Amino acid sequence: MRIHILTIFPDMFNGPFQHSIVQRAVNAGIIDIKIHDIRKYASDKHNSVDDYQFGGGPGMIMMPQPIFDNVEGILAELTQLELASTRVILTSPQGKLLNQKTVKLFSKQSNIVIICGHYEGVDERVREHLITDDVSIGDYVLTGGEIAAMVLTDAMTRLIPGVVGTEASIEGDSITSGLLQHPIFTRSNTFRDWNVPEVLLSGNHGKIEQWRRRQSLDRTLRNRPDLLVEANLTEDDRAYLRSLGYRDANYS
Ligand code: ADE
Repeated sequence: MRIHILTIFPDMFNGPFQHSIVQRAVNAGIIDIKIHDIRKYASDKHNSVDDYQFGGGPGMIMMPQPIFDNVEGILAELTQLELASTRVILTSPQGKLLNQKTVKLFSKQSNIVIICGHYEGVDERVREHLITDDVSIGDYVLTGGEIAAMVLTDAMTRLIPGVVGTEASIEGDSITSGLLQHPIFTRSNTFRDWNVPEVLLSGNHGKIEQWRRRQSLDRTLRNRPDLLVEANLTEDDRAYLRSLGYRDANYS
């Protein structure tokens, strides 16, 4: 997969992709990340990429021309087959909230182009005529779309086959499985008087699985009850949730 990131702050990307799993994926040739400086596509002598908004209003708006030229230059290099498997994504607080399902969909594409929004936003013609997806990473406003582009790149990369060691560690993820992950422990089994739960040391795999499942249900109910509506729940899960006092019209 090739990921193109269009930004007015290319130096922000020095670092985040040069560590850990993303770096390994790049070094192994599984992904290729290209950072593009939108300013290079400016057409005036001041290298302008932003301007005032028509109709009046605060702040500056990213102009369409440098973004269109940059993206169209990238798309022109692609084959028809690659174009059919390409997404052009704008990161903005107005976008659809990113979730694991969307990340998975994006991770299957051959090319991803991410435009990092800035200032008050981008000229609406970019949204209307250039992008395929408008993505927000949460209900808060960042200073720009760069960190959102990093989040998206990181989340997609780990889903590409061959990047993370075992497929099982992806399938068991919080969210991927539909529930939040159960608590996990490592040595020592007593740390500052706090013990690892007995059941995990018991060697009884049936009991361990049941404990983990219930912990996942507990945690999901506490922190993200919205996930329970879509989660794949067994009769046993439902009975356990009912015993915790949870009632939901969608599954009970
Ligand atoms: N740019 C500013 N805030 C953002 C957000 N929440 N998600 C994506 N891009 C953004």
